[in-house]
Amino acid sequence: LAIVSTRTDLEGLRVVVSAGGTREPIDPVRYLGNRSSGRQGVALALVAADRGADVMLVAAHVDDAVTAAASSHPRVAITRVGTAAELGETMRREAAASDVVIMAAAVADYRVAEVSERKITKERSGGRLSLELVENDDILAGLVAARRDGQTIVGFAAETPAEGESLEERGARKAARKGADLLVVNEVGWDRGFERADNSVVVLTAAGERVGLVEGTKHEVAEAVWDCVTAARPAHRH
Ligand code: CTP
Ligand code: CA
Repeated sequence: LAIVSTRTDLEGLRVVVSAGGTREPIDPVRYLGNRSSGRQGVALALVAADRGADVMLVAAHVDDAVTAAASSHPRVAITRVGTAAELGETMRREAAASDVVIMAAAVADYRVAEVSERKITKERSGGRLSLELVENDDILAGLVAARRDGQTIVGFAAETPAEGESLEERGARKAARKGADLLVVNEVGWDRGFERADNSVVVLTAAGERVGLVEGTKHEVAEAVWDCVTAARPAHRH
């Protein structure tokens, strides 16, 4: 059974979606990274394009196999980035011309304070090595601060459940802090969320109101997130 989307409810919209995970160099051969595969972001880009939007996918270290379907889609363009700083620069530029901005990428919170020009060796280390890290700019916060009239901004949050606090409570606090129109919150753990086909998410407004709850494939989650985006957009021009 093939289910072909015939909806074109996103036609005329310009959309930018970040996907994957940034990498921060330590020395010429090493980096700090994370486990994001980029699948959820790519699914968001593909669903948007299938529903008629013009999409820029900003991919941070997403395997070619994962971007394959997006690269051959006529309404998806792909820009590849490496570090959080590169991602930030690209997102600011693309967001300036976009109606909807989705930050699905896992952005490194810290970068190495001083990247070594040469490969760090074990000589003289005495069995220990310290790396000094400095915080990266919050890209999403910057996009929210620069938000244009009529622009919808969506953030993602991967949370590990904490004692005495539900996933949704944690998410609501982050939603208030981030100020994005929508925050898609999913639970992650050693064996949840990353590198997997399925996902389970709640979608919250900046006020912490739950507007979506979906468990399913990353494609199904992407469809549901776009439903939330269209419902949240002030004036439907379609
Ligand atoms: N994000 C961002 N720039 C950063 C860090 C995160 O734009 N430097 C974005 C992510 O792409 C995501 C959202 O902010 O859409 C939430 O990311 P998350 O890591 O959950 O939030 P943080 O504010 O970094 O909080 P935490 O300390 O829990 O990691
Ligand atoms: Ca973070």
